[in-house]
Amino acid sequence: MKVIFKIWRQENTNTKGNFQSYEVDELTEDMSFLEALDHLNEVLVTKNEKTIAYEYDCREGICGQCGVFINGRAHGPHDNMTTCQLHMRSFRDGETIVVEPWRASAFPIVKDLVVDRSSFDNIIEQGAYISAKTGTAPEANSILVRKEIVDKAMDAAACIGCGACVATCKNSSAALFTSAKINHLNSLPQGKQEASKRVLEMTKQMELEGFGSCTFTGACEVECPEGISIINIAEMNARRTKAKWIG
Ligand code: SF4
Ligand code: FES
Repeated sequence: MKVIFKIWRQENTNTKGNFQSYEVDELTEDMSFLEALDHLNEVLVTKNEKTIAYEYDCREGICGQCGVFINGRAHGPHDNMTTCQLHMRSFRDGETIVVEPWRASAFPIVKDLVVDRSSFDNIIEQGAYISAKTGTAPEANSILVRKEIVDKAMDAAACIGCGACVATCKNSSAALFTSAKINHLNSLPQGKQEASKRVLEMTKQMELEGFGSCTFTGACEVECPEGISIINIAEMNARRTKAKWIG
């Protein structure tokens, strides 16, 4: 299998980038997309050319590190799939595949396809924790939680922090990510102690980091590989209003 990768190359945050094309052959349909990029880098090494920088860790759809735009879609052509889970059989032999980093001012490009998502870490620091007594692990059933609440919290907890929601949103809003993190903990009894503080501090940090406002286009939900619902955003806004006025 042969494809033409048209890839964004940029030396660092302060330089201008551009697309460069690479014809890559000796690929197989069973290769993952990242393995195809690995193969391209091996070829570049043999030619003494600069390799392409891209991010990954788990390659199993868990860590959220690998996101890029592929032919204009976050994480590529399939719904509910991360870049690392994508395989070359999703492309035609001879196809040109355009690969770009996330585009958002709160995610500055570090190099080529790698962006700095520490703005997400800064939001997390403001409240994605609970206070609990240290010591031996508590009895598992000492706090009973209704099934529908557990399901809601676990659905929100599925967010892997990949940033596709921000990159896809025309406003570069981080509302889907932030709401998932808030609703995960605020839904559970264990998260109630800091519930008001959490929603106020995390949404404040979201604004300080320079993310845009949410206008409910729903684009984030469509491109989220974990299927996080925009209902989370409505719930976050309601929680924020309540925390502001009632506490
Ligand atoms: S909400 Fe979805 S798209 Fe946004 S960071 Fe979480 S997993 Fe990624
Ligand atoms: S490398 Fe971990 S989600 Fe893709």
